[in-house]
Amino acid sequence: MCGIVGYIGQKEKKEILLDGLQELEYRGYDSAGIAVIENKHLKNFKAVGRLQNLRDKTDSYTSSGFGVSIGHTRWATHGKPTELNAHPHRGEYSFVVHNGIIENYQELKTELQKEGVKFLSQTDTETIVHLFEKNYNATSNAWESFSKTIEKLEGAYATLLITEAEAETIFFAKNGSPMLIGFNGDDVYFASSDTPIIGKATEVYYLEDGEYGYTKDGKVMLFNADGEKSFTKQTLATDKAMAQKDGYRFFMEKEIYEQTQVMNDTMMGRVLESKIDFEELDANLLENISNIKICACGTSYHSALTGSYLLERIAKIPCQVEIASEFRYKEPLLRDDTLFITISQSGETADTLEALKMANRAGLKSLSICNVDNSSIVRESDAAILTRAGIEKGVASTKAFATQTMVLWMLTLYVAQVKKTITPELLKEELDAMRHTPKALLVTDKLHTKLNRLSKRYLHGHGFFFIGRDLFFPLALEGALKLKEISYLHAEGYPSGEMKHGPIALADSELFTVALMPKSLHYEKIKSNVEELSARDATILAISPEPFELADDFIQTIYGTHPMLEFFEMMVVTQILALEISIRLGNDVDMPRNLAKSVTVE
Ligand code: AGP
Repeated sequence: MCGIVGYIGQKEKKEILLDGLQELEYRGYDSAGIAVIENKHLKNFKAVGRLQNLRDKTDSYTSSGFGVSIGHTRWATHGKPTELNAHPHRGEYSFVVHNGIIENYQELKTELQKEGVKFLSQTDTETIVHLFEKNYNATSNAWESFSKTIEKLEGAYATLLITEAEAETIFFAKNGSPMLIGFNGDDVYFASSDTPIIGKATEVYYLEDGEYGYTKDGKVMLFNADGEKSFTKQTLATDKAMAQKDGYRFFMEKEIYEQTQVMNDTMMGRVLESKIDFEELDANLLENISNIKICACGTSYHSALTGSYLLERIAKIPCQVEIASEFRYKEPLLRDDTLFITISQSGETADTLEALKMANRAGLKSLSICNVDNSSIVRESDAAILTRAGIEKGVASTKAFATQTMVLWMLTLYVAQVKKTITPELLKEELDAMRHTPKALLVTDKLHTKLNRLSKRYLHGHGFFFIGRDLFFPLALEGALKLKEISYLHAEGYPSGEMKHGPIALADSELFTVALMPKSLHYEKIKSNVEELSARDATILAISPEPFELADDFIQTIYGTHPMLEFFEMMVVTQILALEISIRLGNDVDMPRNLAKSVTVE
């Protein structure tokens, strides 16, 4: 999740930028950079990895006197996390930072390249600065050149541009990605969220989509498609912790709501018109591979289980899933036609890392699906696919699970393409459904309010069973894990068809059953299983697009056409249910007792 800061004024700029970027660290990044113009001279520093690396590089530099400055933390999307791809991006005499995605960048880039412009990076962002300079070289008018540049951009952006051609101005534009302007006397600040400017600015204006302009001499000129615009500043909040949570009560809650957005990042550049593309995978990764083994722990294990259904059903490749801590000691028989996949949010889980090392020693090809670049698991693997969920702060994993599952779905289609085990019709159907996922992850006020009200009936009893079949069995496991992690209530995930082989003995009105009843997958089968429980007086909370008259409580979902859309929609319901129960019980949702975010011990 990229971050932006900017400052124009007399104060020392390096520290303002670095402190601001530090406040955005929690969003996740893999490189950072700053650019400052003072006395018409440009200074620029970039570094890969932690912000401390950038601090070390800028150690002997301090700005003095009036100047303009911009800074950025980058979470790689187009192009690898290298220094060249880090922002600010430069032209001949200007610098730009940008969050979002310029959808028509390839077209603009090709046009500029034909005119002789040399690109240094693989990013979409660099197009902005070259387009600006092309316009400026023709007009010698910086504001006109910037507005013309913005007119050409399609997609989402929040961007800041500084140029030696007009060294006392910062140009800005916002469309689809957040950006705000902070004010304190003649000092003007920019940032992609309020935390970097809390304590520095006293007032703020949150830019709206389609707004752009410039700041100079302590004044901000704002425009949109209708021309110049007036705006009203508001008082800036002072509580940083609250601001980091963007107004949500807990990080976990914020992360649940973020899922719709981060899913776009996960799919960006990978879900193409008629195929899946992973630029990070070598063409020969699947050569001589006729089997897949996935190893993971906890929530990541649940995404692995979901992936195994998809890989076998759609890609027609045998796939076994193992809990990493079990795998290590079972003396597994490993064949070199097996692709060994590890899944980990943190990339540091000791059990998963050790399992990977075992597979490497046995000479297997390895692929990791991970949220943290350069983590131990990523470094130890032959190849890696990053989930791009952004930093996950809540100990109970939500958006990491969603993005892992999405990567596995994409990987399934990728394997099927390479192995030619999918028809063009089915591939198209899957890709169409995939593009709808962000919508299926939207949390509506109506849903959240309903779950909040209903949660008060589930604070006692002698336990929960989350039940589902097929893909919805791993989701049942994950729903139960979420609930027990943050509510400390006993919850189990179970295949619904298995209840009659024992657990149904527990059924009474104090046994709460959360039934995942998708319409697009074995509806009638699971319905009978739930009826059996209802007949024994179990309390049923049914989640389904189909009304179910035996339910004591019912959450009606929308997507009944594709199992994965139903999966993601029901996943959100189970996450919010757990959240609301935990809040009612007065627990610390983000830091549940006895748990750590990253389990680096055996
Ligand atoms: C998820 O809510 C848990 N906190 C936990 O199960 C976690 O998924 C597990 O420890 C694995 O972590 P990893 O994905 O970082 O490897």
